[in-house]
Amino acid sequence: MSIGIDDISFYTSNFYLDLKSLADVQNIEADKYYQGIGQERMGIVGADEDVVTMAAAAALPLFERSNKASIDTLLFATETGIDQSKAAGVFVHGLLGLPSRCRVVELKQACYSATAALQMACAIVAREPGRKVLVLASDIARYDLASSGEATQGCGAVAILVGANPKLVEIHPQSGRYTEDVMDFWRPNYRATALVDGKYSTKIYLKALKQAYLDYLEQGGTGFDQLDHLCYHLPFSRMAEKAQTQLARCSGSTRDPVARAAMIAPSLHYNRTIGNSYTASIYIGLTSLLDHAAEDLSGKKIGFFSYGSGCVAEFFSGSVVAGYREYLHTQRHQAMLKARTELSYTQYLKFYNFECPADGGDHRMPEQTTGPYRLASIDQHKRIYCAR
Ligand code: CAA
Repeated sequence: MSIGIDDISFYTSNFYLDLKSLADVQNIEADKYYQGIGQERMGIVGADEDVVTMAAAAALPLFERSNKASIDTLLFATETGIDQSKAAGVFVHGLLGLPSRCRVVELKQACYSATAALQMACAIVAREPGRKVLVLASDIARYDLASSGEATQGCGAVAILVGANPKLVEIHPQSGRYTEDVMDFWRPNYRATALVDGKYSTKIYLKALKQAYLDYLEQGGTGFDQLDHLCYHLPFSRMAEKAQTQLARCSGSTRDPVARAAMIAPSLHYNRTIGNSYTASIYIGLTSLLDHAAEDLSGKKIGFFSYGSGCVAEFFSGSVVAGYREYLHTQRHQAMLKARTELSYTQYLKFYNFECPADGGDHRMPEQTTGPYRLASIDQHKRIYCAR
């Protein structure tokens, strides 16, 4: 029996800022963003959207071919939690009408926790192969205005259904890990924006990649030159290029730079136009690879590198299942991105500066999202969600 990804779908807000608008205000060349960091646009949430509405929207299409009654567990990974106590996934459980027997929990470790959730999901399915686990990863990347991180904001959610004999990607049992207590990116409870030591964070990312990959090899994993594609955590798409160079160096790869670039190119399309989505980004990268690869990926081996600042990292791999193309949501993903509305820089500032009311009154949220779910109000400190 194999275990892995039976279905995968992502969602992002219907608003975005083109990074040229940001570059114009900063009086710098747009190519610093388009080429230097490899990002074109960043997704911006409306006032009536958050990690719950995005995750529920990402998960909705999965139930076109899967029965809700088979969902045993919902694991919700996020850096952008909406409550210090209640798991965001419990709201999603209610919105989607999942069975009351389905357990729900939230996981946190910066951008890494969706990978912990995926591995836990595989373990749950190994024990009860008839059950399915819904892994949701949903985040809104927010940095201070005029900080180095501002151009690497974004938002998105991904929903992954994990089960036995999956239709898309079998996850291999080998995994390499690396944990080190560092302060490269963090967000104290009293802040709505992340703090980051940008250059240091990229160095630690590359160090963690090397260590996790070497551990993966020690656990019997597949060498870099035997992998067909790589999906990296994507804080910005140029990071994947730097990661490929690092991995080629520490594996003694004989692949030339063009072949190395081809291993990652299809995985970058969606993230270039959504921006950083923290926990979701590596798996939105996987949907991008599955949706965009011109060749049939059946039987191809994919390496995954998941990184969460602070830091915890994991390198693992999977194999694409024959016939996977029949089960993709490519058209929906592409139509959603095409239908987004561009914000001017002034509109972006308005969206950015919107603050959720915190005084305990009954507040209706402005109707902005075109997604299937919205945050309707915050009343007596309770978040009230509805279908749109
Ligand atoms: N045309 C083309 N390229 C240009 C250019 C132009 N006009 N102007 C500059 N560039 C290039 C630079 O040469 C540079 O290229 P290299 O990386 O190859 O040297 C690139 O654009 C970026 O320029 P800077 O180094 O000057 O960029 P910066 O200092 O303003 O910011 C950053 C870069 C530090 C990564 C910043 O975006 C940041 O702080 N981001 C947030 C932190 C982050 O994403 N860290 C990633 C690792 S941590 C992680 O992965 C967890 C997470 O999700 C946060």
